[in-house]
Amino acid sequence: MRGVILAGGLGSRLYPLTYATNKHLLPIYNMPMIFYPIRTLVEAGITEVIVVTGGPHAGDFIRVLKNGKELGLKHLEYAYQEHEGGIAQALALCEDFADNGCVAVILGDNTTDANISEAVRSFEGGARVFLRRVPDPERFGVPVFDPQDPSRIVAIEEKPAQPKSQFAVTGLYLYDQHVFDYIRTIIPSRRGELEITDVNNRYIQEGKLTWAELNGFWSDAGTFESLYRSNAYWAQKVTGRPCEDFTRYF
Ligand code: G1P
Repeated sequence: MRGVILAGGLGSRLYPLTYATNKHLLPIYNMPMIFYPIRTLVEAGITEVIVVTGGPHAGDFIRVLKNGKELGLKHLEYAYQEHEGGIAQALALCEDFADNGCVAVILGDNTTDANISEAVRSFEGGARVFLRRVPDPERFGVPVFDPQDPSRIVAIEEKPAQPKSQFAVTGLYLYDQHVFDYIRTIIPSRRGELEITDVNNRYIQEGKLTWAELNGFWSDAGTFESLYRSNAYWAQKVTGRPCEDFTRYF
């Protein structure tokens, strides 16, 4: 399986931090943000990766990632997204790279210490999403479970005002080769983007979406609060010291 990291966008929710570089190169404790999803892929045995980026600072990636060898990648390539057209539009740029095979997709601001090796190894096609219980599901894609069979997701709602479960659909996805055909069938949402949630709902309609719960820490980092949370988590994980140690000067 090949890996796709989506690292475009303007990062405008983090202005002024992203005036001079891309969001996914901001630090999370001792590494640039994008190192974390790359590490998740490498740990799952995925060493052929494409990074999709965009915006005014796209060129910064090559200086940080180079050819990916230092991070354990065998092959690293880049694609450039010209407009902020959404996650599914960014993924569409990877059709040639996927070469009719399955892909593991991770949003470049998602960090986790869960190991997805087993999910990757046992993936037999369709789509698989990874869920995490969160206190604020209204910020995310939220799964709706079948009341008769709670192991079955019947729909995913994007940022619903009244979430129907306590889970977030995280920004890690496994797809078979049909994902690119499904992307061609969806239309832009109200925010003018091709939504990955619409792609996942196509798989649900076909009865081909499975899910797994992510065991471990997971967060996005696209807002000041979630960026701070991610830093706090990885600081204590990397050093083995409690968060309070880092705030003793307060
Ligand atoms: C995107 C997806 C959403 C998902 C989230 C995970 O949201 O649209 O379904 O739960 O990533 O980070 P965005 O960050 O683009 O608002």
